[in-house]
Amino acid sequence: MRILSGIQSSGETGCHLGNYFGAIRQHVAHQSEHEGIFFIADYHSMTTVRDAALRRRMVLDVALDYLACGLDPAQAILYRQSDLAETCELAWMLSTVTPMGLLQRAHSYKDKVAQGVQADHGLFAYPVLMAADILQFNPDLVPVGQDQKQHLEMARDMAQRFNHVYEREVFALPEPLIPKDVAVVPGLDGRKMSKTYENTIGMFWPAKRVKKAVMAVVTDSTPVEDPKDTDATVFQLWSLFASPAERESYFAEARKGGLGYGHVKQDLLARLMDYFGPMRERREELAKRPDDVEDVLSQGVARARELMRPILSAARDASGLGRPA
Ligand code: ADP
Ligand code: TRP
Repeated sequence: MRILSGIQSSGETGCHLGNYFGAIRQHVAHQSEHEGIFFIADYHSMTTVRDAALRRRMVLDVALDYLACGLDPAQAILYRQSDLAETCELAWMLSTVTPMGLLQRAHSYKDKVAQGVQADHGLFAYPVLMAADILQFNPDLVPVGQDQKQHLEMARDMAQRFNHVYEREVFALPEPLIPKDVAVVPGLDGRKMSKTYENTIGMFWPAKRVKKAVMAVVTDSTPVEDPKDTDATVFQLWSLFASPAERESYFAEARKGGLGYGHVKQDLLARLMDYFGPMRERREELAKRPDDVEDVLSQGVARARELMRPILSAARDASGLGRPA
């Protein structure tokens, strides 16, 4: 089974708990049984980040995060999106079979516009580039968070249209793989944790900064002795680091009253630091050897190119484009 996913390298804050529990953890878990292809979406980051040095640093940071979290380059492929410029060619081809209405209905585009983001064509066409990222490998499964489901549906739509227009089954229809146990990780303010909302907790931030963020998780003013609503953000975050049995007894205690939010936060902080501790150490080691990380990416793109080349050729051939030597 071939599995593909991308992670966007935008923002200065590094990978956060949402990225880890919604994406990276699943990616790493699949690498031994499946053919994993993962890439760092630096082309995509151009829709939000305009700083070249920052973009370069972010790519390195995401690569370090993945490797620290256990991605094994001897098994899975890890590459930088912009090292495979052919993806942009495919994006063009797909854009010619993509109705404007399809893109206009994209939730993520509409949300960003509603948040006051100045939209440009790149942001509008983002789902087309994402479809190209996916379809170029004809993967079986695309593990993503719930928020990316619509983008996957759009990629399927584009695949179908291309196949239909050129009367050839060039592209397979990818299936999303959305984790059931963790749908959306909430951020400090209770909205979806996202770099865009500046409500994140970074996996590898310095301990002091993590502590500050955990203490800033919103809570209501329910007195310590009163029963607590276990749907509260702080409990949802705590649950990420607890077994189902621990959760059951802790939540029962919370519903009885007597458990203060301050305690929950302290315990959340301790669990979080414990959980990411070994990965943090590994990351510090890897960060001392950035050339090794570059090697991983360049070996990754060479393998990726081999896999996508026949599919891109089939798309060129089906649509009557030239055949490069
Ligand atoms: P951000 O929203 O911070 O910009 P990205 O869009 O780069 O995050 O997301 C990278 C991956 O992490 C995607 O697969 C996405 O679905 C997942 N993800 C991001 N935020 C969350 C979250 N709060 N809960 C679950 N998954 C998330
Ligand atoms: N849009 C995805 C996100 O924000 C990142 C992404 C880009 C992606 N291309 C992809 C994910 C292809 C899966 C497959 O998280």
